[in-house]
Order: sequence, then C-alpha cells, then structure tokens
Amino acid sequence: MRKQIVAGNWKMNKDYVDSEILVSKLLSYHKHSSTEVIIAPPFTNLLAAVNTLKGSSIEVAAQNMHFAENGAYTGETSVLMLKSIGVQAVILGHSERRAYFNETDALLAKKVDTALAHDMRIIFCFGEELKDRKAGNEKAVVESQIKNALFHLPSAAWGQIVLAYEPVWAIGTGETASPNQAQDMHAFIRKTLADNYSEALADGVSILYGGSVKPSNAKEIFSKTDVDGGLIGGASLDAAQFTDIVNAF
Ligand code: 13P
Repeated sequence: MRKQIVAGNWKMNKDYVDSEILVSKLLSYHKHSSTEVIIAPPFTNLLAAVNTLKGSSIEVAAQNMHFAENGAYTGETSVLMLKSIGVQAVILGHSERRAYFNETDALLAKKVDTALAHDMRIIFCFGEELKDRKAGNEKAVVESQIKNALFHLPSAAWGQIVLAYEPVWAIGTGETASPNQAQDMHAFIRKTLADNYSEALADGVSILYGGSVKPSNAKEIFSKTDVDGGLIGGASLDAAQFTDIVNAF
C-alpha cells in the first residue's frame, strides 16, 4: 500500500524565531498516525528544525538543492551539506523554481540523479499552466515534465520518489483543481508510470496534489483514489491549519 503524505512547503517565509515557534506548535499538535508528515522550511531554519524534531515522526525536507556535490557555485546548497545536517528529503521542480529561476527538465534530471546518488528522498513537482489547460494540453505537458526528468531512472529508484502534481493556476490563487480534476490527472500520471514501468511500480508511488489546499477542501481532495496526500503552501504556515489538513485523511 502506498504512503499517505502531507508535506508543507513554507517557501520563502518565516525567519529563524518564527520558524522555531511554528515547528514547536506543529510538534505539540502532532499525533502519530499512518499519514507521513514532512515540512520544508527555508535553508536558514533547516538545522534547527531537524534538531527540534529529532525523535518525532515529522520529517524535514529542503526546498531545493544544486546538482553538484560541491564547487564554485556561489549562493548554492549541495546535497552533501543537506545530508550533513540530517536532511533526508528535497523538493525539486517546483513551478516557482521553473518560472523564476529557469529550471528546466534537463537541469532537474541532473538534480534528481545527484539526490538519488546520496539516498535523498525527492518530492518531485510538476504541473501545467493555465494556458496549457485552456488549450487542452495539460496531460501532454505533465507527461513531458515527468518523462524528461524522471523516466531515465531504473525502477529501483522510484522507492525514493514522491510525485506532486501542482497545477500552476491553482498555486496561491485560492483556486483549487476540483477533486475530480485532480483525480483525473493523478490517474493519468499513474497510468503513464504503469505504461513505462509496471502496474506494481505505479501502484506504489505516492502522488500528492498541491494548489490552494485548505482544511475546508482537503478531505474531499484526499478522498480520491489516486490522490495520496498534499503539498501545502500557504496553509502550512499556520500550525492549526496544517494539522487539520494532516488529520483530513
Ligand atoms: P498554496 O497551497 O499556497 O497554493 O501553494 C501550493 C504550493 O505551491 C506548494 O508547493
């Protein structure tokens, strides 16, 4: 049975002090359950979050990493640095990285390979823009994003990969894909995995939905067969809201 996961992507929010307050609140609200919980604070708060959450079942992920292990890449953070502070997971391919930092499928494939070479778990994001959906191209866009960045991987690598479908038009807009739109795309993604790998592999990969998930809509979205959880932006910045979303399963 694949895992149910709720992950919080804090993006560029929360300074050190506010981050520690949020982490402590999350810890006090958190009840152990079969739903996996992951938070992705900014880089400046990762070490503190790892330390505060030691011994709890809340995991910590980075929001990005470089494809090189080290070197002359001013301002960047490597997989080795993340691993050295106990971070075991990384978000790659977020639409904001693609849009504002020119991250391409080819670059993401390199980051994926580096992360996997160091046993890093990956939450891999992708999703169509509004113009793609209006043109009826959403499935072709999604298929090419996952094929280009991930389908060179051997089957064994998929144990480390969580997919996150985030339609760009639903991120931070208050507009969610309807539960049926999410299910339709998630089923398509799973079929694409089955066609390129196997049914068994496709059945085991968790596919999260992201885009304006709130306590008020999480239950209905998560009730869909192929939706295995959520990647939460805005609502992950509030401990009560995020915990309500975790408990929506
Ligand atoms: P919102 O939940 O704020 O729409 O953000 C979703 C997202 O981009 C998570 O990675």
